[in-house]
Amino acid sequence: MPSAIATRRFQVYFKQVAVTGLVLYILVILLSSNSSHHSSELISPIQHKMAPPSPLLEKPPTDISHLVFGIAGSVATWSYRKSYIETWWQPNVTQGYVFLDKAPTGDLLPWPSYSPPFRVSEDTSKFEVYSQHAAPSIIKIVRMILETFREEDEGVRWYVMADDDTVFVVDNLVEVLAKYNHTKYLYIGGHSECIKSNVDHSFEMAFGGGGYALSYPLAAALVTNLDGCIKRYPDYRISDRILQSCISDFGVSLTAEKGFHQIDLHGDISGLLSAHPHSPLVSLHHLDVVDPIFPSMNRHESIKHLMEAAKIDHSRLLQQAICYHKQNNWSFSTAWGYSSHIYEQIIPPSLLKRPLETFRPWIENTRRPHFMFNPRLLLNDPCKAPHVFFFESLVETAGNQLVTSYIRASQRDFPACSSGGNHSADRISKIQVFSPKTKPSEIERSECCDVVHVDGKDMAEVTYRACMKDEIVG
Ligand SMILES: *[C@@H]1O[C@H](CO)[C@@H](O)[C@H](O)[C@H]1NC(C)=O
Ligand SMILES: *[C@@H]1O[C@H](CO)[C@@H](O)[C@H](O)[C@H]1NC(C)=O
Ligand SMILES: *[C@@H]1O[C@H](CO)[C@@H](O)[C@H](O)[C@H]1NC(C)=O
Ligand SMILES: *[C@@H]1O[C@H](CO)[C@@H](O)[C@H](O)[C@H]1NC(C)=O
Repeated sequence: MPSAIATRRFQVYFKQVAVTGLVLYILVILLSSNSSHHSSELISPIQHKMAPPSPLLEKPPTDISHLVFGIAGSVATWSYRKSYIETWWQPNVTQGYVFLDKAPTGDLLPWPSYSPPFRVSEDTSKFEVYSQHAAPSIIKIVRMILETFREEDEGVRWYVMADDDTVFVVDNLVEVLAKYNHTKYLYIGGHSECIKSNVDHSFEMAFGGGGYALSYPLAAALVTNLDGCIKRYPDYRISDRILQSCISDFGVSLTAEKGFHQIDLHGDISGLLSAHPHSPLVSLHHLDVVDPIFPSMNRHESIKHLMEAAKIDHSRLLQQAICYHKQNNWSFSTAWGYSSHIYEQIIPPSLLKRPLETFRPWIENTRRPHFMFNPRLLLNDPCKAPHVFFFESLVETAGNQLVTSYIRASQRDFPACSSGGNHSADRISKIQVFSPKTKPSEIERSECCDVVHVDGKDMAEVTYRACMKDEIVG
């Protein structure tokens, strides 16, 4: 219909005018501030992308009291999603709100003090402009940053937006945010694991399920005319995409951090979690969609179990250390607090750091490559398939050491690896890992380890330690 096309053209024209106006406005602001500021403000986002800054000597350093969370929830899902939030929410310590689509009733009341306080999202259906939006129901989620900001909490440095099925390791989130200067315009989060999701939405978008953080100045700027921005993108159907577009219109790009995980995957994600990058684990999402992360437990027990390790040493959680038992030609790869693998041949660290492809992509039956990282295929080859052990228990010793135990998930159905010399690891049922109570985030490289003992019966022992100066990590 010609009239519809004319309207569409006008909208496109209007959008261009609006965006050009905004760009001009930003330029004017930049040019009018004094010149010594220009270079630093223009260069610093690029520096952040290339090499994350070392911890700021900001006084006082960023801690949990400087964060306010906005959690997108709904009355229909809260009763079972809340158990994910309760694994990380610390009543009277973490600050923030869960935003519900309508007022809770029945079983949800009285609202417990160990849950985040709730707010009911403002009803936007009465605004005519929203009824013209392609996906009016997502507007409430976009406006969550506005409604969180309006709570006027004091001393806020970072607003952290998440879903009701996002699980944070809060201490690691604080540690990651503390590296950045919260007085600058910053948008920090993670990509999707799947190339296709980033292509379909944006490589510049922080995926909301993995959670993302907005520095105070960015949030303040964004909320001054958020509704105006939502109007600029009437046909976007994804809330994170609208928000990213609004942020991009301010000239701010995504600072991607490797610890945020959207988990746009299906099936068994143990391969991914067993090869986490050397970066603190910040978040996990879609835990209702993937298999329980510990095969012997259900989903909720699994996440609680992982959090038990997190509580004792959050910095080391999932941090991978690789070492070898030369006598048997075995390679050990341990992801602290989660899993330990034995391979019956010597495999270099660079390969063991590639996640084993135990999972499937978000959109199945599509063409490779699927992922934003280099996976290793899971092969029916006794030299390439690991013996898999999962975290069972943790003990703190008097000597300031932690002992984590990993027990075999199931018997591996293969003969021994012949080229490694036929040294079967079938008899090993348990791996004990000793680690010092230090902060690996203070260590530039992955940690090293030693296989200190393999007994004739069923047990192996591994010790985490700092690598020596010129040592090959592994
Ligand atoms: C949080 O603090 C309030 C007020 O000090 C108190 O009434 C409440 O019991 C506390 N909640 C928890 C779970 O500690
Ligand atoms: C943080 O950024 C502000 C504004 O650019 C600057 O004045 C301040 O020195 C920075 N703080 C640190 C610790 O780098
Ligand atoms: C370890 O593997 C290498 C290469 O496959 C082999 O030459 C060597 O004999 C093996 N060592 C033992 C102790 O089996
Ligand atoms: C391992 O065992 C297989 C089958 O028994 C044998 O053919 C092979 O030579 C053995 N390899 C080594 C290195 O001993």
